[in-house]
Amino acid sequence: DLDIIRTVADLRTRVRYWRDQGLRVAMVPTMGALHQGHLSLVAKSLENADRVVASVFVNPTQFGPNEDFSRYPRQEERDAELLNQAGCHVLFAPTVAEMYPDGFATAITVAGVSEGLCGDVRPGHFSGVATVVTKLLLQCLPDVAVFGEKDYQQLAVIRRFVRDLDIPVAVLGAPTLREDDGLAMSSRNAYMSTDERAVAPWLIRALTGVADGLRAGAKASDLCPKAVDGLIKAGFASVDYMEVRDAETLAPAELLDRPVRILVAARLGKTRLIDNIGVAPL
Ligand code: PAJ
Repeated sequence: DLDIIRTVADLRTRVRYWRDQGLRVAMVPTMGALHQGHLSLVAKSLENADRVVASVFVNPTQFGPNEDFSRYPRQEERDAELLNQAGCHVLFAPTVAEMYPDGFATAITVAGVSEGLCGDVRPGHFSGVATVVTKLLLQCLPDVAVFGEKDYQQLAVIRRFVRDLDIPVAVLGAPTLREDDGLAMSSRNAYMSTDERAVAPWLIRALTGVADGLRAGAKASDLCPKAVDGLIKAGFASVDYMEVRDAETLAPAELLDRPVRILVAARLGKTRLIDNIGVAPL
């Protein structure tokens, strides 16, 4: 049965108890409002470890001043039930005061991979993510931590600082889970009106269109502006970016001469949606 733990001290005691029995521990950091995408990370954790800790913490430091921190969905009881059904062992749900006590003054910033894409549109966001994920990993010290490719730049940032800071955790990436119409599952999908929800699948169609173009030999610099136009015509309010990047380094890529990732962020009414897909040369 799922146990809910709220303090770092209690989490450490639990993980130490497991370790003394020789058990492998996995961690799945989340901000809650859980969906099947999150639960797929728990499933992947159970394939790689004996015990799974999921954290639910809506991290204030990764939200900008005009972002949705206060209206981000909070539904702990439902989350706990879903985690329990998924076979998760501990829900770590600390308070803001437990994570950021008075006088907190440290931040982790990651150069390079944090720049461009979401980093340009959301200044300070990846520093907030890096700081909270560093804390969570050091609090729990799991053997493995599982993150979704849905947030591809975030995954690259996390891989970078885990290596750079010698955090003794294996980082695993997991594929994006989608609704039947292709929309990537996201806690923010709940913000959309019925009309917006009908437009949202154009995001994956636009990505697929760019992928087809690259496979046919076209250039990213020709394909991406056309895909942006398509999204605006479909009803998106604006497109933050539509770019093709090297799948490993996230350096800009023009042609399909290596594995690449196509990444998009766009606004539908007030909701900001992100998605990405990989394409590799045959
Ligand atoms: P959150 O948006 O709740 O996502 C938690 C984890 O679930 C992330 O690793 C994310 O990539 C993954 N995820 C989200 N949607 C997914 C989908 N459709 N398929 C597969 N995985 C999916 O990302 C965060 O929280 C935060 O930034 C966090 C890392 C917890 C730090 O606060």
